[in-house]
Amino acid sequence: MAETKLLLEHAHDPSYRTLDGYLAKGGYAGLKRALGMDRQAVIDQVKASGLRGRGGAGFPTWIKWNGIEKDKHAPHHFMLCNADEGEPGTFKDKQLMEETPFLVIEGMTIGGYATQADTGYVYIRGEFVDAARAMRKAIDEAYAAGYLGKNILGSGYDFDLHIHMGAGSYECGEESALMSSLMGERGMPRLKFPHAPLPTVAGLWDLPTVINNVETYAVAPFILERGGEWYSTLGASTKNSRGTKVFSVSGHVNKPGNYEIDFGTTLLDLFALAGGVKGTLKACVPGGSSVPMIDADACSKAVIGYEEMAEVGSMVGSGGCIVLNDQVCIVKFIWRTALFYANESCGKCTPCREGTRWLLQILERIVKGNGQPGDKELLLEICSQIDGRSFCGLGDAAAWPVVGAIKAFPQEFDYYIANGRSMVESDLVLVG
Ligand SMILES: Cc1cc2nc3c(=O)[nH]c(=O)nc-3n(C[C@H](O)[C@H](O)[C@H](O)COP(=O)(O)O)c2cc1C
Repeated sequence: MAETKLLLEHAHDPSYRTLDGYLAKGGYAGLKRALGMDRQAVIDQVKASGLRGRGGAGFPTWIKWNGIEKDKHAPHHFMLCNADEGEPGTFKDKQLMEETPFLVIEGMTIGGYATQADTGYVYIRGEFVDAARAMRKAIDEAYAAGYLGKNILGSGYDFDLHIHMGAGSYECGEESALMSSLMGERGMPRLKFPHAPLPTVAGLWDLPTVINNVETYAVAPFILERGGEWYSTLGASTKNSRGTKVFSVSGHVNKPGNYEIDFGTTLLDLFALAGGVKGTLKACVPGGSSVPMIDADACSKAVIGYEEMAEVGSMVGSGGCIVLNDQVCIVKFIWRTALFYANESCGKCTPCREGTRWLLQILERIVKGNGQPGDKELLLEICSQIDGRSFCGLGDAAAWPVVGAIKAFPQEFDYYIANGRSMVESDLVLVG
């Protein structure tokens, strides 16, 4: 099984990070094509491509782009790039920004043209200093050569692009919290549709705003250059997932890293691309730490696609694929995951603020050997009170991994609670 190379084809070539090198490899052909088209025709290409957002939820990109009211005379329309990438296990956006910055910039400019945006922001995770430097350098080069700024390539279209550094908060990857943070407010979520207008109607400073993930934008140049129909042929064996997806593969594989595959590839083929599993496969968290883990049997049946992954009980998510071998204690692994979500809860709503703390307390007493009868059931009950009840998706993200692990490995929880120690004699995860 060969790796598909679209976004990452030239990622390891340093010249691709310069405008000249990017142009030499066919860069900006997509934008040039887009600027000669009607704005709606650009959106129609994205629709034909079947592109779904790569940030986690898999929402059809064209619907967001099409949601900006046509001919609305707002003082600004915004194009926002979510480059916060806080989900444990996911590190693809970092590589895309560091090694293919012009793809992201070109994609945002195409999106900006299609949605009448005059201003764009790339909201970059605070720790991603190298990514921010690479983006800064590329943005400066693009301005100097007329690919950003006033009258781009003589088309009459103006687009300014700014970088905004986050401060290392997972919550600020949630789109409404990201917008709050960008506007100088606390990074907390806002009410969502249908209780509040969509960002395309009232986003940043209550003006029309499109927000997409780094990888989503990086795809747009290829769709415009080669056509939406062409893109939709990739992954056509799946129900409704088209194109390629970059997976960050980590954990017990021989060659951890980012791998780009066509949708429709099996999960085992992805492991093989990453050099194969180190030791005996036990489980995998396929889409970033917030998605439910699946056991080895489910891994062997899993086909990578939004609907296909749901059939085996998990999700594509943001593509952070964490591979676990039989040396891993699932209870300790989930305790560590719960610690992350409890730390990152912004505290705005009760189910998440209290629920994530409570999950952590129970998991902590279990891993310290003080589990009590009924703790497994209590964990599930708390998760059911968080899932779907928190103000934003962070609560769900904290509950799903716990439920997934208990479903896939109930015996490990039972054993730990009954015996005060792990079934797995391994100290891979240290209990602090
Ligand atoms: C707690 C939380 C954290 C999130 N973090 C990110 C993130 O770091 N990057 C990202 O692209 N999307 C993140 N999302 C999803 C965004 O809210 C949003 O759906 C996404 O940026 C939309 O882009 P897309 O349609 O291109 O996927 C997060 C969601 C939640 C609930």
